[in-house]
Amino acid sequence: MQINKPDYYNDLDEIYLKTWDLLENGLANRDSPFHIPVFINGNQNIFDGRIVVLRGIDQKEKKIWFHSDIRSNKVKIIKANSPASLLFYDRSQKIQLRICGFAKINYKNDTTKKSWKKTVHMSRQCYLGDEAPGSDTLKPTSGLTAVFDNSEYTIEESEIGYENFCVIETFIKSIEWLYLAAKGHRRAYFNLDKNKIEKKWLIP
Ligand SMILES: Cc1cc2nc3c(=O)[nH]c(=O)nc-3n(C[C@H](O)[C@H](O)[C@H](O)COP(=O)(O)O)c2cc1C
Repeated sequence: MQINKPDYYNDLDEIYLKTWDLLENGLANRDSPFHIPVFINGNQNIFDGRIVVLRGIDQKEKKIWFHSDIRSNKVKIIKANSPASLLFYDRSQKIQLRICGFAKINYKNDTTKKSWKKTVHMSRQCYLGDEAPGSDTLKPTSGLTAVFDNSEYTIEESEIGYENFCVIETFIKSIEWLYLAAKGHRRAYFNLDKNKIEKKWLIP
């Protein structure tokens, strides 16, 4: 039986293109598994990962970003230690991406202004709680007052959420690709830390 091999199977340049293609699709398509990567960072001996929503990619500037609450734990960690990674997996394509780099917190700057303007009514709810995410609470709660919890706020009233809003960019230093295939796995590594992108194969 003939099993078709994708164009990128044995071609590092094609893999690199496919990588950005998958990220582009993850950004545009809410149903894509690449829409919700795991952002991983840590400090000293504690490391943690959490799902985030991919909000932007810039191939030229070699960066990708997501939105968050400035009061969240991950922000504290980034302030202490900026190296971070993003982990993606698309089960149907059998492709895993591990993106490593440095995280940068944008807060009340041009980047956050631009992103905040694009946020919709419902997604602003995430930034409207009085207490910091992860704070202890004596009762089960969303952390929102009834007006915000029931979405009974106007877009103008949601403007105060901007106080808690930040954009976390990851400046990419490397991308590792793993393609699982019955006909033989393929693993590739891209070093983006130099002017010319270094592309090489690894043993899967
Ligand atoms: C589907 C999904 C999407 C999420 N998107 C985001 C996001 O874009 N930004 C974010 O900060 N947290 C997001 N979260 C919540 C995080 O996974 C995490 O619980 C929260 O950010 C607190 O993490 P921290 O305490 O490590 O800072 C999302 C969770 C899920 C399940």
